[in-house]
Amino acid sequence: MKKLFIKTYGCQMNVYDSARMADLLTPLGYALADGPEAADMVILNTCHIREKAADKVYSELGKLREMKEEKARTGDKMLIAVAGCVAQAEGAEIVKRQSAVDIVVGPQSYHRLPELIARISREKGHALDTDFPVEEKFDTLPEEIAVGGPTAFLTVQEGCDKFCTFCVVPYTRGAEYSRPVAQIEREARKLADKGVREITLLGQNVNAYSGDGADGEAWSLAKLIRKLAAIEGIDRIRYTTSHPRDMGDDLIAAHRDVEALMPYLHLPVQSGSNRILDAMNRQHTRDDYLRLVERIRAARPDIALSSDFIVGFPGETDEDFADTMALVREVGYASHFSFKYSPRPGTPAATQKQIPEEVKAARLEELQTLLFAQQRAFNTSCEGKTMDVLFEKKGRQAGQAIGRSPFLQPVHADHAGHLLGQIVPVKIESVFPNSLSARLLNVPCTAEAGS
Ligand code: 5AD
Ligand code: SF4
Repeated sequence: MKKLFIKTYGCQMNVYDSARMADLLTPLGYALADGPEAADMVILNTCHIREKAADKVYSELGKLREMKEEKARTGDKMLIAVAGCVAQAEGAEIVKRQSAVDIVVGPQSYHRLPELIARISREKGHALDTDFPVEEKFDTLPEEIAVGGPTAFLTVQEGCDKFCTFCVVPYTRGAEYSRPVAQIEREARKLADKGVREITLLGQNVNAYSGDGADGEAWSLAKLIRKLAAIEGIDRIRYTTSHPRDMGDDLIAAHRDVEALMPYLHLPVQSGSNRILDAMNRQHTRDDYLRLVERIRAARPDIALSSDFIVGFPGETDEDFADTMALVREVGYASHFSFKYSPRPGTPAATQKQIPEEVKAARLEELQTLLFAQQRAFNTSCEGKTMDVLFEKKGRQAGQAIGRSPFLQPVHADHAGHLLGQIVPVKIESVFPNSLSARLLNVPCTAEAGS
């Protein structure tokens, strides 16, 4: 067996892609290793969304080069591949900057990795593939799929046609593409057969999903979710990431009607200022977003909301930022991701006059203070409640297990080590900033017996 190490940066889509790359290389005799030291092949599956993410790749490549040279001294080889969005964005530049790299492969052409590996072993030099054959990719990825527990990601849609002025995704992942319904259903059934109870449907613009159904119609995400919810064994469904413009009535209704659809929605707003939303080309106003949240909450009152925010977008004034703070107060988020604006090469906003770094930092701190307080308040509101947890893995303490609540909060419980893969009602006993502690309903508070 040859050893393969994949390091994944960035979003959940990359996590899915890394798993599929491993599936693809398993038939070639590669088994996953825990670290790069002993690996015959290392893949960095990279992220280009912000400058920091992209920079990390080059420092990692420097370390890998040393390992590769060390191995060469003893006659061993190490193939180095750069995959993902940095590969797509920078292409041949990567081998110019770091000649130890053997393969550069984009997110839509990684199904050709076996070919690229064969080419490298035949010929000297580097192999590069940054085409966009997204349909071919999904048609040729192996049906065999490895699962790592009771939850799994399933990519249903890729790419983006929105062109927000800060974002590289439309350039690195390409135009919107939705996988056909039957292909997704097959993959979901395979996951369910292997014990997966919860699937998270992935797409850069997942709620713009419009995939071919067997009936010749284009299916919406809501229709797809209803179909997948009927699969025996699939008890929980989530999806991410959504755009406010594509939050259709049928998807909102699915949150009301489909029991398996979890009460958690990541719905990025980015900014609360109409002026900035317009400059970002978000194609909705602050009010559109607030009305949307009202409609979603009317359909599913207990839904936990989450969002992405960018502070310090070019031209953002104190008033614009105050609008973001006010929107956050008005909505009330259960969780969040927030970032300082990072100019990305090739995107329209990158060439505009930039906001000073200290202003960005101060705004981010103010915003995060509010958002973390909201997160704590949401977690505290769960104290004493009973909720279902899907236990995913063992905890650090003997007998402890860790899972997720319907609202995606990590929950740990004692005496639950035997419940991995099961959905179990628990009582939330105490609350931490990022997690909850719970007791199994059938275990008295003073229970000593472990499992
Ligand atoms: N700078 C900062 N944050 C960004 N994001 C996307 N592009 C940038 C950028 N240039 C954030 C957005 C997006 C999330 C995935 O990353 O908030 O929703
Ligand atoms: Fe990027 Fe905007 Fe598309 Fe999201 S909707 S991937 S932020 S361009």
